[in-house]
Amino acid sequence: MMTNLNSKLQVAISHQYGNLVVHGDIQFSVKENEFLCICGPSGCGKTTLLDILSGLLKPSKGDVLLDGEIVNPKKHSISFVFQEPSTLPWLTVWENIATGLKIKKLKKAEIKQKVEEVIRIVGLGGFEGFYPHQISGGMKQRVSIARAFATDADLILMDEPFVSLDQPTRERMQQEVLDIWKNLKRTIVFVTHNLEEAVFLGDRVIILSEKPTSIKADLPIDLPRPRNLMSLEFTELRAKCFSFLHQK
Ligand SMILES: Nc1ncnc2c1ncn2[C@@H]1O[C@H](COP(=O)(O)OP(=O)(O)OP(=O)(O)O)[C@@H](O)[C@H]1O
Ligand SMILES: [Mg+2]
Repeated sequence: MMTNLNSKLQVAISHQYGNLVVHGDIQFSVKENEFLCICGPSGCGKTTLLDILSGLLKPSKGDVLLDGEIVNPKKHSISFVFQEPSTLPWLTVWENIATGLKIKKLKKAEIKQKVEEVIRIVGLGGFEGFYPHQISGGMKQRVSIARAFATDADLILMDEPFVSLDQPTRERMQQEVLDIWKNLKRTIVFVTHNLEEAVFLGDRVIILSEKPTSIKADLPIDLPRPRNLMSLEFTELRAKCFSFLHQK
């Protein structure tokens, strides 16, 4: 694999589970602080790809380089936000957000400052002492997102994080993720099968094919933010993504 020092993440892999070829030849890179969205049909291996990017699953062939080194969860700090909010029910909102920082053995004052900052940005002020069962699904997902951003993660991986939320909550959360990302720049790989969500959020959208999965398109989304879902430019880009997704 060519090493491009400008990229944060460099992926060149293929993967199969037993005889099932999931990923053919998948190659892409992500720049520092870029927001990359990945779209693809159900079962094409989006979650598997994120598992590979996290270093938890070794690809059958190839490598993932993070900051020029083979990704290693023991060395790199990688945050994962799943489809279902992954809050710990026995911890308060404050403690849930602080968990990643405690694992990193930061000083108490540093943890306090970081958690307070993130709580303010995600709008959970006033709910610090609540337990997960006392808050809504949308707020729980906000806790998961706050935890992901609280650590100085080298990479944030998000696997359809809003799919189980109702439409208005989903739209609010999309805006919130953009706000947090604008405040606390991070490199994000965000998986969704919702093209509108991808074009709304991403600096770039990668469209995957059916298995054996390859990259059908890698499109820059050079629309200014905040983006208007009703604008002609937006609907044209979404239509372009749609035609790639459905092209045989
Ligand atoms: N641990 C595993 N062992 C064997 N096969 C697996 C394993 N995990 C996933 N698969 C298979 O690999 C393929 C890709 O699965 P994956 O969950 O990565 O797809 P996905 O794109 O995330 O799907 P969805 O859109 O439904 O979330 C599927 O055919 C799935 O059945
Ligand atoms: Mg999945």
